[in-house]
Amino acid sequence: MTSFPNALSPLRIGQVTIPNRIVRTAHVTMLGMDAKSGVSERLIAYHEARARGGVGLTILEICSGHPSSPAPLMAINPGLVEGYRQLVERIRPHGMRLFQQLWHGGHHAKPLDGSAPWSASDIPSPRLGIAARPMTRSMITEAIDSYVLGAGAARKGGIDGVEVHAAHGYLIQQFLSPITNRRTDDYGGPLENRMRLLLEVLAAVREEVGAGFPVGMEAARIAALRGHEVILCEADKDLGGKLRLARKAPFRAAIGDVAAWLESKLFRLGVQIDLSTYCDSIPLNPVISARVRGGKHESLANDRTWKPLGQVAGPGRRSA
Ligand SMILES: Cc1cc2nc3c(=O)[nH]c(=O)nc-3n(C[C@H](O)[C@H](O)[C@H](O)COP(=O)(O)O)c2cc1C
Repeated sequence: MTSFPNALSPLRIGQVTIPNRIVRTAHVTMLGMDAKSGVSERLIAYHEARARGGVGLTILEICSGHPSSPAPLMAINPGLVEGYRQLVERIRPHGMRLFQQLWHGGHHAKPLDGSAPWSASDIPSPRLGIAARPMTRSMITEAIDSYVLGAGAARKGGIDGVEVHAAHGYLIQQFLSPITNRRTDDYGGPLENRMRLLLEVLAAVREEVGAGFPVGMEAARIAALRGHEVILCEADKDLGGKLRLARKAPFRAAIGDVAAWLESKLFRLGVQIDLSTYCDSIPLNPVISARVRGGKHESLANDRTWKPLGQVAGPGRRSA
């Protein structure tokens, strides 16, 4: 381990301390399929073995909250919360932490009722070859609610955090990419519009789980827009975190546009960024982290969606 001196040291994400930096990324096992809850004894034993082996954090395989996107774990299943509780009880003694990945497959998923898959536009999934249903506003709202349902089930079941799946060509990425998003409304066209679904999902999930519960990406921009003073502490010497890493992959340079866009927006909103800074006094997201100091709550009295966000995160302006 001499090449990786930090691999076995703990790491804080939000209020959660991960015992080491060994992470088992989400992958579909289908091991839960023989239980009504989706969390079978086989699935628990699988994760228990990894916990016993010393893994610090496991991201549980995709969970969907909507029948238009079936998954091994379904938040519409009333048994899921109890299934999580059984899983957590067996994992806890070993110290491994559990995050749930929240997902909607978009045009890659076959809805349970046999109707056409949902997506930003009618572009068919290369896998299914079925023309998708371009999502209406109310379908978009339903999809956002489905991520919220998954986040709520995870929280109630004792899961430590959630990860919003915004990659691998699934629904959120179908909105992000101009190849699959041909919309002409507020959710299509310029990057600012194509990002709208992602930002709305993140804000809604954060609202559901409350401050301190780790969410993979955050929305400091929204907090600043709503009149809060936002201070962002970045442990690294630059902003962008995993996005900077991801954009190095072949043909993926455009991924960095999201970070650049957010940074320019927060610059204009006057968000203070402290680089190379750990904030020991507040829950910390190691990639991007911030806290809200007060806020102009009065001016938000008529904002139906507003509620105090606690600490929020997102890239932004360097402090002097
Ligand atoms: C069978 C299988 C299922 C996967 N399911 C998911 C998933 O549910 N969510 C996800 O983000 N990645 C998923 N992945 C990607 C893995 O998390 C991982 O990023 C990828 O396999 C690369 O890591 P590796 O080189 O160790 O396999 C899956 C990969 C495999 C092979």
